[in-house]
Amino acid sequence: MSQQPRVLLTGGAGYIGSHTAVALIEAGYAPVLVDDFSNSSPAVLKRLEQLTGQPVVCERGDVQDRPWVEGLLRRHACQATIHLAGFKAVGESVAQPLKYYRNNVGGLISVMQAMQAVDCRAIVFSSSATVYGDPASVPIDETFACAPESPYAHSKLVCEQMLAAQAKAQADWRVGVLRYFNPVGAHPSGQIGEDPGGVPNNLMPYIAQVAVGQREKLQVFGNDYPTPDGTGVRDYLHVTDLALGHVAAVKRLLQCPGSFTVNLGTGAGTSVLGVLRAFERASGRSVPFEFVPRRAGDVAQYFADASLAASVLGWRASHGIEAMCRDAWHWQQRNPLGYAGEVAHELRGSGEKSRLGSFSDAI
Ligand code: WQD
Repeated sequence: MSQQPRVLLTGGAGYIGSHTAVALIEAGYAPVLVDDFSNSSPAVLKRLEQLTGQPVVCERGDVQDRPWVEGLLRRHACQATIHLAGFKAVGESVAQPLKYYRNNVGGLISVMQAMQAVDCRAIVFSSSATVYGDPASVPIDETFACAPESPYAHSKLVCEQMLAAQAKAQADWRVGVLRYFNPVGAHPSGQIGEDPGGVPNNLMPYIAQVAVGQREKLQVFGNDYPTPDGTGVRDYLHVTDLALGHVAAVKRLLQCPGSFTVNLGTGAGTSVLGVLRAFERASGRSVPFEFVPRRAGDVAQYFADASLAASVLGWRASHGIEAMCRDAWHWQQRNPLGYAGEVAHELRGSGEKSRLGSFSDAI
């Protein structure tokens, strides 16, 4: 029986999840990955084993199946949950709101009920800075009003409120809410990274695909914002720093009673053109672009006051935009087709939910 604290990591095969799995293992935890692979690839599991040098336990299934989740928590004797599983495309949520509420809110309810049934009462929740909506000023701290402007962002706020209600109703629940700003980049090995599939919605993967020649040029959505160079300013956060934020959060929950909500960002803003120039320096490639009208729903500036995460968790981002671009480029170069380039593993297991078991069983 492993002495390492077991942590259920839902969405563990995804972009944030896979980086969090590496950070957890390196910090001495034993993550139990859960994923339905609706927005991720089983091929990442082999990469995780190569990176960590040990088998990776991953269970395939839907977190909305509460009895199944309860069984996982019990079988693996998990001491905490990190809940990342969820849909995250803002634009898609506007077009398909019920899909987002059903999956994001319904999924968390299922996980919380399963946790309650097995007395696992510590949860780290993946939230988003979009719960703030269009901020009155920047930097944004956790006391700012929340005014979500999309069903995606609203689903995240509803989840936060459900967790707060549970912690109020049952004082032994420990809840850590992490409001992500803009996660970008990849593990420095280039073995795992962001694999959006299709046309990327987000800036960094789109720039990377232009730099590698997959796309002709970047469309810059608006150059008439009240910002230093007229383009949108965001708080980009290296995904490995974000992963360490999850480790710090679960560590605190397992050590201390109580709950917290913190921003995870660098506290610095970078404009679209600033990212583009940094990427050109990191890659040595030119990134052609053209200015086009603003994208609906975008705001001018969005960056964090991250001081509460520093005081509550002792966490601070350590990578700047140059490293984010360097690592995003390294991943893009090594994996021009993302994980699609890997031969998908034969998934074992009966019925629709196949258990991969320890990774070494699955290949
Ligand atoms: C960044 C900047 C765009 C693409 C989104 C989600 C948010 C979070 C992070 C989940 C903006 C500009 C972009 C392009 C561009 N995800 N841009 N051309 O919109 O800040 O946040 O991802 O939690 O929920 O809303 O990130 O990368 O889409 O845009 O000019 O092709 O880049 O206008 O200024 P965003 P983004």
